[in-house]
Formats: sequence, C-alpha cells, structure tokens
Amino acid sequence: MKGKFITFEGSEGCGKSTQSRLLCAYLRSKGCDVLYLREPGATKISEKVRSVLLDKKNDAMSVECEMLLYMAARAQIVAECIKPALEKGRIVICDRFLDSTITYQGYGLGMDISLIKSIGGFVTQGISPDLTILLDVPLKKGLKHRDGRQDRIEQRSLSYHGRVRRGYFKLAKAEPARIKIVKVQRDLHQTQENIRKLIDL
Ligand code: TMP
Repeated sequence: MKGKFITFEGSEGCGKSTQSRLLCAYLRSKGCDVLYLREPGATKISEKVRSVLLDKKNDAMSVECEMLLYMAARAQIVAECIKPALEKGRIVICDRFLDSTITYQGYGLGMDISLIKSIGGFVTQGISPDLTILLDVPLKKGLKHRDGRQDRIEQRSLSYHGRVRRGYFKLAKAEPARIKIVKVQRDLHQTQENIRKLIDL
C-alpha cells in the first residue's frame, strides 16, 4: 500500500468529527490528496447499515447482530473506498475503524475480543491504520450533552461508556507506536495543534 491510513477514535463527545475534518482541511491546504470517511457509513450500503444500527427502535438487536452489522458496513467501505484509495497512494482519514468494535462491542458489551479481531482481519482485508489518534475526554464531560435525542449506542449507561473508554486505554497501551492519545483541550485549535504534531508527512 502506497498511501497513508489515519483513523480517529474516542468515546462519545470527544470531538472526533470536528478534529478529523480540521485535519483533513489542513492536509488538503498543504496540497495532499485526502479521502475523508466515517464509520459506520460513507458508502451507500454502509450508510443504510448505519441507520439500522443507530435506530433506537431496533432495541431487539442481539449483540451478535450488532457486531456483525458494524463489520458488514466496514467490509463495504474497505472494498469500495479505503483499499482503492491506499493503492493509489492517497491519504485516507477515517472517523472510527476496527478499534471501535473492539472497544464498543468487545470491552463494552463483553464480546470475545479475539473473535472480533479475527472477523476484523477478514473484513479489513488485513488493512490497518498507520496512525490512530485517540481523543480522550473525561466521561461525564463527553456525555454531558445527552438530552434524550441520542442514538441507540449513545443512550447506553455511564458504566458501559466507562468500559469503552478504559478499553481504548488498553488498546493504546498495547500498541503505543500506532495509537497516540491526545487529550481534548478546551480550545479546539490547541487540540488540533497537538494532533498536527503527530502527523509525519
Ligand atoms: P459516531 O457517533 O462516531 O458517528 O459513531 C456512531 C456510533 O456507533 C457511536 O456510538 C459508536 C458506535 N460504534 C460501535 O459501537 N462500534 C463500531 O464498530 C463503530 C464503528 C461505531
């Protein structure tokens, strides 16, 4: 693969989408060819899967179904977007990737992490990020905007989201060369500065 694959991860309310978009705009302003994606979603098929996953009405969804739907959406985005872009030498920035399934369905819901990694290897065709920016925000701060309109996953308990956040720390400890923790600052431009320092292009 000639390109560079950068992912953004973090628990709810960490500002991933804003920060990943700012980085994308910055790299484009420097003349880089960047493809910006989000997970689950980005392709027609994966966006449909996203709406099934996040719909609060789908409260009967089993944990097995949930995990496999995230993987199905990922299989499509990898085949349709990520792999072709990396082969062409483009930079791919993706808001969430396989680490989210390990933390949200693995650490959060208690699913077998080695099973998630093995299905993950299959759907990603062995593609893994060159760099993962893990944005960290205190749990209660991240969830303080919850107001009843949140989606099926966001609405889960504080203890669930705590397991997700601790899961991210475990992943970062296991793979320090790939996963870089960036503490979310009050000033979003300061956070962005700290992210840019990690980008070695
Ligand atoms: P988003 O809010 O970052 O767009 O992500 C949608 C939700 O889906 C968010 O609550 C995290 C959750 N999620 C998982 O539970 N497992 C996954 O594999 C992914 C990619 C997201």
